Order: sequence, then C-alpha cells, then structure tokens
Amino acid sequence: MTAHVETPTHVTPLHARGASILMCAPHHFGVDYIINPWMENQVGRTETARARDQWTALARHLAGCANLSFVGPESGLPDMVFTANAGLALNDVVVVSRFHARERRAEEPLFRDWFQAQGFDIAPWPEDVPFEGAGDALLDRARGVIWCGHGWRSSRQAPALLTSIFGWETIGLKLVDPRFYHLDTCFCPLPGGWAMYYPAAFDAESLATIRALTPAEKRIEVDDIDALSFACNAVEVDRRIFMNDASPALRARLTKAGFIPVVTPLGEFLKAGGAAKCLTLDVTRTQGR
Ligand code: ARG
Repeated sequence: MTAHVETPTHVTPLHARGASILMCAPHHFGVDYIINPWMENQVGRTETARARDQWTALARHLAGCANLSFVGPESGLPDMVFTANAGLALNDVVVVSRFHARERRAEEPLFRDWFQAQGFDIAPWPEDVPFEGAGDALLDRARGVIWCGHGWRSSRQAPALLTSIFGWETIGLKLVDPRFYHLDTCFCPLPGGWAMYYPAAFDAESLATIRALTPAEKRIEVDDIDALSFACNAVEVDRRIFMNDASPALRARLTKAGFIPVVTPLGEFLKAGGAAKCLTLDVTRTQGR
C-alpha cells in the first residue's frame, strides 16, 4: 500500500458533543499476513483508493456526532487502522493492549505514546497476559459492566484484571468460532440494556450469561448472514448505529428499538477481519455519555 492519503482535516468534528473517538488513517492499511480466517487468500488484495474512501465515509459520519482524534499511521503496520485494539480506555485510565498477534506487537508503543501524550494514566498489565483492548472488552455504560471476550486473542485472565483496574464488574465470554475472534465482531451492547449479538460465536455458558442479563425483548440476535457482514461490529453514538451492512429485517428491528441504523460499506476492511467498530476506539473522558 503506497498511495498517499491526505491528513483527514476534512473530518474535523462539526459538533463538539460528548463522545470522543480515536481513529487511524488507512495510509498503510492492507493484508500483509494472516492472523484470522478473514485474511486468508486476501494478502495483497485490498484496494487502496476504495479503502481510503470507505474509511473517510465512516469518519465523516462519526465527525457529525463525535469528536475525532487520530493516531499514526505508521508504515509497516497494516492493521494499526483498527484502533479498537489500541487498548481499553475508561475516563482517564487506559490499559494498553498486549497483542496476542505477534505481527501487531509493534503497534503497542505507538498507541502507548498517544495515550501518554493525551495525559491518560497507563495501568500496569502483566507482560504474559494477552489482551487486545476494546476489540475484546466492551464498555456497557447502560449496565455499568465490561463484557470481555476470551479464547482467541485475549486471555481468560483478562476479565479479573480489568475489574481490579477499573472497578467495574467484568463479564467474561468465551468465543468459540475462529471467524469471530474478537468480542466486537459478534457482540454489541447498546444503551437501554439492548444487546445485538451472534449466538453461535459463544459457548453455551456464555450465551446463557448474555441471555440472563438481557431481557428477551431486548435481545437482538442476528443470523449468519448479518453476522458474516459484521453487523455486530457496529459503533453506536447518540442512538445512531454505524455498520458495514444490515439486512432489512435487522434494520427494522433496530429502528423499532429506537435506534437509527446507518449503513456505511467497509468491504475493504472486512478482508482484514474488521469493520466499523474495529476502526474506532471510544476515548470519551466523562462518566457515561
Ligand atoms: N487484522 C486485524 C487482526 O486480526 C483485524 C482487527 C479487527 N479489530 C477488531 N477490533 N475486531 O488483528
């Protein structure tokens, strides 16, 4: 990936509202190695201009309702665009990711530098416990809990560590389908106690936990087709839900629940196993929003 992408000044926030989101421009995005099933047969096959346009469209949507910040990008780090994996930030404290994926470890100091420069307190984290940030740890401000996926990228030890750092109850969920290797690929907690998720991505006990904590009428269980379009990899800001795609049935369900689904295609990023949520990190520094 060599094409030059201008610094995204055209996506500076239009409104200074509550949410703050960190992104990384896709100058160096591509599939250069294979660390998840989506990347198989995709090495060298992303289209630079299309990726840039798709990323810019997402950033523009988000700039309409959130404050955007940018980190990097850095050549040789094709996955850095997925800032969800920078770490998990809650108000002024951050856990910087400790990548399970060796290919992504060089991103760690760059994300760390960004958090440090912004004045975040960097929480200590054991060297030998993999944790891939907000890809696997989802803040659920409505329920006041953190949902933490483990099994592929993040360690089973991560949930207890997150509780000790942030003081929020953390619910561990075991992921069992390699295509849904980060929690944010198959689970999206929403305000008001709603949850959108793909049941088959979880082991039986974890699925039972999700259902126990979500009243039946607030469960938005997606089918294979929506799951494989990364519908659950959605970003919610002020009831708008930005996503790569959604079937008419899913859009209707979200609308009925009081949300506004906004489809913004991200097919180039799906080749690397990511979509809207993976391309963003919530770095909002107030309690709730
Ligand atoms: N290729 C990247 C990886 O496998 C994609 C990361 C997607 N990020 C996410 N939060 N799900 O690490």
